[in-house]
Amino acid sequence: MNQTNEHNQKLYIETVGCQMNVLDSELVVGAMRQHGYELTEDIKQADTVLLNTCSVREHAEHKIYSQLGRMKFSKRDRPNQVIGVMGCMAQKDQDLIFKKAPHVDIVVGTGQLGEIPQLVDEARSNRERSLAVSLGRRDGSRNEVADSFESYDPLRDPEMRPSPFQAYVRIMIGCDKFCTYCVVPTTRGPEQSRPPSHIASEVRTLAAQGVKEVTLLGQTVNSYKHTENGQLYRLSELLQLIHDTDGIDRIKFVTNYPRDMTVDLLEAVRDLPKVARYLHVPAQSGCDDVLKRMKRGYTIKDYREMMERINSIVPGCAVSSDFIVGFCDETDESFEQSMELIRECRFKNSFIFKYSERPGTKANERMPDNIPENVKRERNNAMLDLQNAISEEDNAEFVGREVEVLVEGLSKQAIKSGDADENALKAQLVGRTDCDRIVVFEGNPRLAGSLTHVDVHDCTATTLIGSIVTRQIQHGSGELLPILS
Ligand code: 5AD
Ligand code: SF4
Repeated sequence: MNQTNEHNQKLYIETVGCQMNVLDSELVVGAMRQHGYELTEDIKQADTVLLNTCSVREHAEHKIYSQLGRMKFSKRDRPNQVIGVMGCMAQKDQDLIFKKAPHVDIVVGTGQLGEIPQLVDEARSNRERSLAVSLGRRDGSRNEVADSFESYDPLRDPEMRPSPFQAYVRIMIGCDKFCTYCVVPTTRGPEQSRPPSHIASEVRTLAAQGVKEVTLLGQTVNSYKHTENGQLYRLSELLQLIHDTDGIDRIKFVTNYPRDMTVDLLEAVRDLPKVARYLHVPAQSGCDDVLKRMKRGYTIKDYREMMERINSIVPGCAVSSDFIVGFCDETDESFEQSMELIRECRFKNSFIFKYSERPGTKANERMPDNIPENVKRERNNAMLDLQNAISEEDNAEFVGREVEVLVEGLSKQAIKSGDADENALKAQLVGRTDCDRIVVFEGNPRLAGSLTHVDVHDCTATTLIGSIVTRQIQHGSGELLPILS
């Protein structure tokens, strides 16, 4: 259905937060385009402004409220503008958003994204505010609450994808782990896995649109479980189901939950060549007392055993982690145990966060946020320094080696300097190895979307630097020809 408005309406969208939000924005923009909207990067030109929000840390919410504050003035100049707040903050703060920012027209939770085009139209025509959100986790039976959160997976619009060769695919929504610091079980609702046949069909559609790499998304992606036609599919079986999709070269999945890193899954990673040898499995802390207060559901011994399983079943697999520093009652000793875990596991990289107390969580109700900000900052910096040193040392191991890279396109630097476009013969390109290491090298931008070989000759903590391998192969005549792969 291709509806067109009287004049082409312009949509501006801003996205913060995780990959799930990036995917949601892509899908909402696709749906809005079907309604005759076109995307603008200039907020001043926009008839509709959507902010896709994150509630995981307070800082992200502050930024959105400040932005909404500034938008009060722009709306005075464009009284017909529709302003919408969508995503996690919408589900968490609901009416509070209208109180803090009365010029907001619609507030749409993570479970109602499909309603956005209609809600925007209605807001424009009747100038009434609307709130579309799901039930709270205690506002009904599990099934009622789950039904109020709908996984939003409309048909994909290839033009809206940030990269034509890479796509996210949602395989589940929500989370039932209830870590004591985390708002996600509230903002994204109960854990629900999508049927494997729907996922497989979406992957086929994406492949037909030119996608080479799919990243399967779930808050605890390896807890995936769905029974279809009498067969139980876990993530390992789902990977097998989609693995042979023609056109797909690489499959990744994020984010993993340590307790569900089972042998069958690791064997699937080992045995399925298109599955990246890269696992993001947040530890959050290296101290048992802290893990217990976080209600993470495992001990450090369990995490170590999981690392041993990974290393023995999938040798060379890169593992990355998340850590929260300064969680309630975290002592110097507990922090040192987290540092020790990083030294021992040698994560490829770690995302490190200062604890941010979140309303509505168990930690907020029961435990004081008692680590001073300056201590959190010091621990954060010390941990970053340690992780960077390890990342750089491990990247140095790649210097002198040849790696296979899935080329993503122009590097950030090439885009920023504006000195290259897709028609240039040579530009700085970026891609990733099978173990998710970022590689930059010079090459023809038309290599984007292909697998190529790169000789690594330098590195930083975050990046391998190299040049495309030029091979000499034997031609029929015996003549040696260079090949640019
Ligand atoms: N404060 C700080 N970091 C948090 N995370 C989740 N909740 C909080 C919080 N309240 C971090 C965790 C998680 C990542 C996505 O965000 O490390 O893995
Ligand atoms: Fe949040 Fe824990 Fe669920 Fe991850 S597993 S989304 S940290 S509650």
